[in-house]
Amino acid sequence: MAAKPVAPIKRLVVLVSGSGTNLQALLDEIAAVGAEAYGAEIVAVGADREHIEGLARAERAGLPTFVRKVKDYDSRDEWDAALAETVSAHEPDLVVSAGFMKIVGKEFLSRFGGRFVNTHPALLPSFPGAHGVRDALAYGAKVTGCTVHFVDDGVDTGPIIAQGVVEVRDEDDESALHERIKEIERRLLVEVVGRIARSGYRIEGRKVVIQ
Ligand code: GAR
Repeated sequence: MAAKPVAPIKRLVVLVSGSGTNLQALLDEIAAVGAEAYGAEIVAVGADREHIEGLARAERAGLPTFVRKVKDYDSRDEWDAALAETVSAHEPDLVVSAGFMKIVGKEFLSRFGGRFVNTHPALLPSFPGAHGVRDALAYGAKVTGCTVHFVDDGVDTGPIIAQGVVEVRDEDDESALHERIKEIERRLLVEVVGRIARSGYRIEGRKVVIQ
């Protein structure tokens, strides 16, 4: 009997702007089960700023890192092209925005559209943008959560891959609620990235079908 072909291990570039606990969850899972069983390995970690724990986590894991700051470029488009070029050099199959707090532009999307995954701390399409947790609390939502989705040219508007639900408690402040969301979010991101890496997927309009 012919041996079952082993799917190639997918190459991930992860982008961060902050503490990098979602990145850490990916690193821990790949270290625990192995890149082959997980279906993917992280080949580089990039950021839009220096001196963040997300980059320190990557360095401790022995991964190459890079920083592309908007203010180092004459225009947002030049920054976007430089980010796209740098990410491209690592030949990723998938790019994961794990707390990357910048909106990418046309060049980045033309190269990585359909394979650029973001995680957002709210149940999209509610509460998009940079303050998803704060906005859900201020609105008085009783449930919120997290959304893992493909990035398109809007702000948090791309096709949804998976969502996790978290109840809002009367005593919640932004930080307590965000911590509970992140516990669910880290597990969801690890599960989703592994599944799409191993199984493949199609995007049909707004629907993501994992094969
Ligand atoms: C995560 O909750 C992620 O959803 C959020 O930043 C946090 C990063 O945490 N992203 C956004 O709000 C994007 N709009 P981490 O740095 O500990 O992984």
